[in-house]
Amino acid sequence: MRKIILILLASGSIFSCGDVKKVKEWQLLGFQKMDDYNPVLLPDTTTRFIDPVTGRSVKWEGKDVFNPASVVRNDTLFLLYRAEDFVGKYNGTSRLGLAYSLDGLQFVRNSQPVFYPDQDEWNALEWEGGAEDPRIVCTPEGTYVMTYTAYDGNLARLLVASSSDLKQWTKYGSVFQDSLDVNKWSKSGAIVTRRVGDQFVAEKINGKYWMYFGDTHLFLATSEDLIHWNPIKSEGGDWLPVLSPRKGKFDSDLVEPGPPAMITENGVLLIYNSRSILPEGDERLPNGTYSAGQALFDLSDLKKINSRSDDYFFTPDKDYEITGQVNNVCFLEGLSFYKGKWFLYYGTADSKIAVAVSEVGSEGF
Ligand SMILES: *[C@@H]1O[C@H](CO)[C@@H](O)[C@H](O)[C@H]1NC(C)=O
Ligand SMILES: *[C@@H]1O[C@H](CO)[C@@H](O)[C@H](O)[C@H]1NC(C)=O
Ligand SMILES: *[C@@H]1O[C@H](CO)[C@@H](O)[C@H](O)[C@H]1NC(C)=O
Repeated sequence: MRKIILILLASGSIFSCGDVKKVKEWQLLGFQKMDDYNPVLLPDTTTRFIDPVTGRSVKWEGKDVFNPASVVRNDTLFLLYRAEDFVGKYNGTSRLGLAYSLDGLQFVRNSQPVFYPDQDEWNALEWEGGAEDPRIVCTPEGTYVMTYTAYDGNLARLLVASSSDLKQWTKYGSVFQDSLDVNKWSKSGAIVTRRVGDQFVAEKINGKYWMYFGDTHLFLATSEDLIHWNPIKSEGGDWLPVLSPRKGKFDSDLVEPGPPAMITENGVLLIYNSRSILPEGDERLPNGTYSAGQALFDLSDLKKINSRSDDYFFTPDKDYEITGQVNNVCFLEGLSFYKGKWFLYYGTADSKIAVAVSEVGSEGF
């Protein structure tokens, strides 16, 4: 792990505050924002889609694009990204677009979204806020499972879908359809995976699949099949918080998973997003800033945090991260190991998509 630290110290520009931050040896670091390419995706007002719910032609990715999942398939890197139109009382129904790249930096996108609210049995959950914030893992069988947030304008619910090609998707509804928690606010499901080459494959631990989720505290759920999930509860019957905000820090107000969690030689590594709200938060950050930290959970007990970064490793400092639909947001959701490098994809100010690259290699991860 020594090599990782040395590379990190050499890469000055992530330390925007000028001081060298305390970092832990187990963290995945060294990310450089790719200034020559960022933002890698912008809204596009030229592409139109016939919305199957209303029959209207909409500029489906005209207002904002953000919060992407990334997957490598056959040496090609794909992004599934959230795109908002200008229509409706929530000012933008969200759909998911698909783009691909051969270098991780320059993308070609499909003119039509691949995932959207339709006249189907999930319409009541997805209309008219739409389908938001995808996270995708590979199954041991080689297909894909996606968690996403459905927003009906009142309640956000974590839903699940599967695909064999990233284009045609089968929806299953709430991840909690077998529990009594379908109608509880839920978001952001990061399933625990192991990296196998350039694939992040869901892996059973102690006989079950595991998923971190939530956007206040982090909670944990288990599954036999990646589709039906059961939240782990405390004795009082509430969801058991496994990671919580910390006063005085960048994660003072909320914590929310980033990309799928990853089994490493040190434990289960979770990159998480978080918000700082003043006066409790980090005084260096503008009020409401979304930065990202890292946590390491115990592989033999996924509820247990073994270590947690003292500080953020990623925070807004570019114009397009500072100003947008929601100011001061870097929201990390896509992590890929592609052609020997780590690519981290994130939404900027809920408006655009950017990438940061790390060359620390795969040793230990
Ligand atoms: C990958 O490429 C190979 C060779 O071109 C092809 O046979 C295979 O179907 C492709 N697989 C996927 C997942 O697209
Ligand atoms: C909807 O979003 C557009 C683009 O961000 C903005 O110009 C407009 O004022 C918004 N409308 C409402 C009702 O919030
Ligand atoms: C920071 O933002 C929150 C939520 O928008 C607000 O309640 C709080 O008063 C703000 N704090 C300061 C110091 O401006």
